Amino acid sequence: MSAQTKLRRKTVKDIAKAKGGQPLVCLTAYDAPMAALLDPHADVLLVGDSVGMVVHGLPSTVGVTMEMMILHGQAVMRGSSEAFVVVDMPFGSYETNADQAFLNAARIMKETGCQAVKIESGTYAATQIAHMVARGIPVMGHVGLRPQAVNVDGGFRAKGRTQEEWAEALDEAIAADQAGAFAIVVEGVAPELADQITKSVKCPTIGIGASATCDGQILVTDDMLGVFEWVPKFVKKYGDLRGEITKAAKSYAEDVRARQFPGDEQTYKLPKPRAN
Ligand code: KIV
Repeated sequence: MSAQTKLRRKTVKDIAKAKGGQPLVCLTAYDAPMAALLDPHADVLLVGDSVGMVVHGLPSTVGVTMEMMILHGQAVMRGSSEAFVVVDMPFGSYETNADQAFLNAARIMKETGCQAVKIESGTYAATQIAHMVARGIPVMGHVGLRPQAVNVDGGFRAKGRTQEEWAEALDEAIAADQAGAFAIVVEGVAPELADQITKSVKCPTIGIGASATCDGQILVTDDMLGVFEWVPKFVKKYGDLRGEITKAAKSYAEDVRARQFPGDEQTYKLPKPRAN
């Protein structure tokens, strides 16, 4: 592609038409430099509310606020130019009713410039999804393990292991699809259930701890880059940032303590005195 060719962001149509085609590559992003690095490789950048745990050190995503999502959403939009950017709606910003969901989603879209929002969609949320889509807001659903429900579930647990949970996850996905979601994240379910969900909905499914047969995959970027010592079973580490950062910080500390940094190359030189 020539340098002159103007790249355009992917649209909701590009994402929706991936159903049954080449898998969608999706990653989380929370800041501009990381968004810029991921942008050429990802179809979708999700400003996930996982930012609360990954960046802000919260114990769950429950404490994440609208202001946090907007600030990180703005940064990711500034850092990217090609990927389709979705911003998570935080816990408490959409569950009450359709009006609350629309007003908060509209604020996120206006203030960040993102192209869509995601909600953790229990079956009750079909009303919210239909209301937002009819008013111009593309919505991504999220079923199975819904991290915002951690306090009801008593922890982050895989879903669909009982007949009841299996039916619940399937119902959540079908409800989101019928309400007009353009894609659905399927998290923390056995491959058999993920496959059934993918076959049962018209929109693409994006798996995380689900199945390679989903229409796309997503991981928390910091997990797959190896920033954390512990990662969930479903994460494959594609890098060792933890090791690299530790090594670099240790060398820097040694250099500073030994007065080896800054060296000659890192210091400004005084101008040579002019000869009169
Ligand atoms: O918040 C998040 O990062 C997510 C993805 C893991 C799907 O919801």
